[in-house]
Amino acid sequence: MTVTEKSENLVRVCAVEELAPGNVTRVNLQPPIAVYNIEGEFYATADWCSHDKSSLADEGFIENGEIECGWHFAKFCIKTGAVTAPPAAAPLTKYEVQVVDGAVYVLVEG
Ligand code: FES
Repeated sequence: MTVTEKSENLVRVCAVEELAPGNVTRVNLQPPIAVYNIEGEFYATADWCSHDKSSLADEGFIENGEIECGWHFAKFCIKTGAVTAPPAAAPLTKYEVQVVDGAVYVLVEG
């Protein structure tokens, strides 16, 4: 029997001061991850919109804790990844974020 173990890795995103409140940045992993600063708290979701894979970090708009897709205007809750406006139907994958020694990290399976 083959035992497959999942491991997790912390990937450095940027220094805390490089991602100001109200902004989002894209981490070029496979798949890419969007990391947000919402009022000083950091969150991370899948970067690709679940409707048709636009980059939310590059083409989306943040307002009231939501990211609005720049292509067809679906909205997602940044804290939960839940869809808050169509046409997207599936939620965004959420990732854990940690701040260590003044830098922002995202936790990904490796
Ligand atoms: S690609 Fe985001 S709503 Fe269509």
